[in-house]
Amino acid sequence: MTNLPTFDRHRRLRHTSAIRDLVRETHLHIADLVYPMFVVEGEKIKQEVPSMPGVYQLSIDLLTEEIDELDQLGIQAVILFGVPNEKDAEGTGAFSDNGIVQQATRVIKAQKPSMLVIADTCLCEYTSHGHCGVIHEHDVDNDASLELLAKTAVSQVKAGADIIAPSNMMDGFVTAIRSALDVAGFTQIPIMSYAVKYASSFYGPFRDAADSTPQFGDRKTYQMDPANRLEALREAKSDVAEGADFLIVKPALSYLDIVRDVRNNFDLPIVAYNVSGEYAMVKAAAQNGWIDEKALVMEKLLSMKRAGADLIITYFAKDAAKWLATTK
Ligand code: PBG
Repeated sequence: MTNLPTFDRHRRLRHTSAIRDLVRETHLHIADLVYPMFVVEGEKIKQEVPSMPGVYQLSIDLLTEEIDELDQLGIQAVILFGVPNEKDAEGTGAFSDNGIVQQATRVIKAQKPSMLVIADTCLCEYTSHGHCGVIHEHDVDNDASLELLAKTAVSQVKAGADIIAPSNMMDGFVTAIRSALDVAGFTQIPIMSYAVKYASSFYGPFRDAADSTPQFGDRKTYQMDPANRLEALREAKSDVAEGADFLIVKPALSYLDIVRDVRNNFDLPIVAYNVSGEYAMVKAAAQNGWIDEKALVMEKLLSMKRAGADLIITYFAKDAAKWLATTK
């Protein structure tokens, strides 16, 4: 017998598509996807967000159609952002029982009770200054904001929200919201905490979509420094201790190391938020014909799962659901 060189033959397990299917380690399912929606006041409004082709601000009367489409695609969860007409210093619209998210939630739950409505709990879309809490002497007042956030969460659940997703990055927001929900009798409502949220430039298009750009300063006193990794573990640890049921890492793509760190250190479901800027970049390149959009999007979403995410909040949810249904 001739002496063949000895080395590992990795290509054996890549030889055919069937073998590759057999040994694939990570899978993306429609049930992993959460679709973000921007709801505006008014009627018959379907306004495309210029920096997010394919994403619309929708008025409540047009939600029914959208929910039907999502349902047909097999998408079972949406996260709602409200874009109110009126804003004020305290973000009153966030916790008004007739607020835009509360109204939208009632409409969606009446139409399709099985559709999970996740309410983003923050003040920035509702405050005239665009910050995520109330302002006191040019800074966001942590403890005063907690009270309003807790009120917001309770009113969202009263309207029918299934999950509360607080994105404000105040300290203690999980405790404040958990106890307010419990006192109101909503002990069964999970909190999907934006536990690890960076002060990121990737949120630019969202702020156009939600009209929530801060009118002065930035969010660096409450959102995290992109340079930090250990801080992510401290943030997640507090939220777990305070009673979070899910941990969100946001943004996703430039932060997959953080997704993995959080996965390795905590046993709650991990959610990656594939944010607006990540969406806009792909769309822009695709519109120029520079990339294969479908292949690239599916690779990105799969990478988030491989990094350790269980769920992905993504503006690509509808596209991905279509692609998952048509390709093996
Ligand atoms: C609200 C909030 C933001 C996003 C989700 N919730 C914006 C921000 O913090 O400025 C960003 C989502 C995205 O970019 O897709 N605080």
